[in-house]
Amino acid sequence: MTQKDLETVVTPSLLLDLDQLEKNIQDIMEVANSYGVHYRPHVKTHKSVEIARRQIKAGAIGLTVAKVGEAEVMADAGVKDILIAFPISDTQHLERIQALRGKTKITLMIDSVEQADKVGEFFDKENPLPVWIKVNSGLNRCGVEPNEGVLELAKHIQAWASLKLEGIFTHAGQTYGAKSKAEIEKIAAEEVRIIKDSAALCESQGISIEHRSVGSTPAVKLYPNMDGITEIRPGNAVFYDMVQVGLGVAEKEQCALTVLSSVASIQTGRIVLDAGSKALALDKGAHGNDVVKGHGHIREHEDLVIESLSEEHGVIPTERTGEVTFGEKLTIIPNHACPVVNLFDYYTVHKDGKVIDYWSVSARGKNS
Ligand SMILES: Cc1ncc(COP(=O)(O)O)c(C=O)c1O
Repeated sequence: MTQKDLETVVTPSLLLDLDQLEKNIQDIMEVANSYGVHYRPHVKTHKSVEIARRQIKAGAIGLTVAKVGEAEVMADAGVKDILIAFPISDTQHLERIQALRGKTKITLMIDSVEQADKVGEFFDKENPLPVWIKVNSGLNRCGVEPNEGVLELAKHIQAWASLKLEGIFTHAGQTYGAKSKAEIEKIAAEEVRIIKDSAALCESQGISIEHRSVGSTPAVKLYPNMDGITEIRPGNAVFYDMVQVGLGVAEKEQCALTVLSSVASIQTGRIVLDAGSKALALDKGAHGNDVVKGHGHIREHEDLVIESLSEEHGVIPTERTGEVTFGEKLTIIPNHACPVVNLFDYYTVHKDGKVIDYWSVSARGKNS
């Protein structure tokens, strides 16, 4: 394709800095290597076949997804090992999982006896479904309690010949609500300890736990040691965003994803952008996080704050309206990259200030 300047891109658009994306992928791969564990990135952040392929090429062992629709898109793209990290139990979804099994290895998360029974009844003992138990390490969302909770469910799963227990995993997303690096470190250490101890208890009872998986972006570089852990599953680290910057996890320069917006109107006491909640998302962070200011960070005008959003408008109340020009293009680092991606059909991929490609947000809207 002929290369265009970023200046000519229609707004609002989702921009992806290819060099920074590749650096972020490489960086996490090196973190995984330094721990001596595998990397199984979460797809919910990017929902992109192009990005998944780059992660696999860099050395990722497979992918994590939240939705069967995401697994379908990634299996069609040739990904051979997919963990579905959501407690699915209804027949429609299980039929779709069964259909995928000819193409790729699918592992399903289990976190209750009720779910195990439904899934166990559905699959066949001639071709047991690999499953991992989800453990609650303090986020208090899904997951059984550590140790005895894990052992009890593991024994229950073992009674189903149609299920093959291969691993346990957790996501300590409460790192997003941490007030300091020390607090994230503490959560990370606890996350590892919980998985290690729960696996050891199962193994002491003769139940082998081959895979032991942890991961959230805030914690990923802060694990004290990874003894007894086999993989990490960061999602957001592929892009980073203002929440990660606010937590001290990344620098603004490391953010690979931005929203390009234009100054659409300048009024007395305010500047109006063409990026509203349908481009920047309303999400100000996950799990109790309050480290962001406004609705995204404007790279060209660091002191201007997008105070409010309506669907198509971003409003910056300011007496300094003269700092921008009418029609000026602004690059905004979103507060939370993951829901922003889900609002766009494609990434405008750029390198050295030029648009070099357009990548589909392939699993966009695959919400079931
Ligand atoms: C099960 C699971 N694994 C991994 C992740 C990745 O977390 P992050 O985006 O913080 O890296 C998530 C995020 O929601 C998750 O739910």
